[in-house]
Amino acid sequence: MGRLQKILIPFLGLVLAFWFYSMLKGKRVIVTGASTGIGEEMAYHLARMGSHILITARTETKLQKVNGKLSTHTCVFMADMAFAEHVVKEAQTSLGGLDMLILNHVGTSYFGYFDGDVGHIRKLLEINFLSYVAMTVSALPMLKESEGSIVVVSSMAGKVGFPFTVPYSATKFALDGFFSSLRQEFHIQNINVSITLCILGFIDTDRALHAAADVLLVPPAPRTECALEILKGGALRRRELYYRYGSTRLPLLLRDCAAELLDRLVRSRYRLDRIGTGQRRHPSAGN
Ligand SMILES: NC(=O)c1ccc[n+]([C@@H]2O[C@H](COP(=O)([O-])OP(=O)(O)OC[C@H]3O[C@@H](n4cnc5c(N)ncnc54)[C@H](OP(=O)(O)O)[C@@H]3O)[C@@H](O)[C@H]2O)c1
Ligand SMILES: *[C@@H]1O[C@H](CO)[C@@H](O)[C@H](O)[C@H]1NC(C)=O
Repeated sequence: MGRLQKILIPFLGLVLAFWFYSMLKGKRVIVTGASTGIGEEMAYHLARMGSHILITARTETKLQKVNGKLSTHTCVFMADMAFAEHVVKEAQTSLGGLDMLILNHVGTSYFGYFDGDVGHIRKLLEINFLSYVAMTVSALPMLKESEGSIVVVSSMAGKVGFPFTVPYSATKFALDGFFSSLRQEFHIQNINVSITLCILGFIDTDRALHAAADVLLVPPAPRTECALEILKGGALRRRELYYRYGSTRLPLLLRDCAAELLDRLVRSRYRLDRIGTGQRRHPSAGN
């Protein structure tokens, strides 16, 4: 029995991995914000799976580094909202259509108490929210045709109030409102385009570590595994994806029955003595 288990479990794992890899083989995928972090890891996974990918970011040099490792794949730069339509058009010309739109990029914000800067929130909404909307609108005709998928990378900070990332959290909550409502309309209209909202906890990307490693009391999860889970969730057309499950889905169960307790749990994850007032640091910051 023991020996059978030793052979059977890895074998089943292999079959599952193979099946999942074959699901994305030959698929045409856009990944935004793929010059670093989770987006970069998704690009590598997709290349290994044999997908046709188009990656975007603002910084040309960083993106070229990633593209170099991917050899034959297309590389498009996305600077701001005006480029959203451009990126999608590029998919039409260079990939000949689109099966999956992965919205992952995020603008720089600060880590600290809300500083009252309304202009910053407006700008961050443009990058983290409105550009997601614009790209979805542009890509929808192609996604309808392919019966494709939209994957939206969000955060625990987009499901429950998080201190010290007020502007960032606001943009992530907006994503939930827009895409969850849109999913409802897709159902009603029999539009077969899946929408997967990804709720991530603290992930070990350079910028998140730099911003929050010394302030958060929780250990970060690995970005490579996170990237793979996001792709799996999208390929399986899941409604929502939680990573890691234990630090996202489980605490969220408290939200409706014990919201105060959940709030307190969230607050207890920070070393409050190390929080500065309004200093500019990074975005995704652990949530
Ligand atoms: N790491 C975490 O702990 C964590 C937790 C929860 C959720 N998330 C979410 O996961 C996603 C990826 O996070 P990450 O940690 O991998 O971040 P990251 O390493 O900072 O990557 C962000 C990407 O977005 C691009 N970008 C930044 N500003 C942009 C702009 N104005 N227009 C277009 N692209 C822009 C960046 O490239 P350029 O700078 O070259 O433009 C980069 O490729 C985000 O949606 C984030 O909210 C992360
Ligand atoms: C929706 O599209 C997926 C992927 O093409 C397909 O597997 C599924 O059967 C479709 N569902 C309906 C109801 O057409």
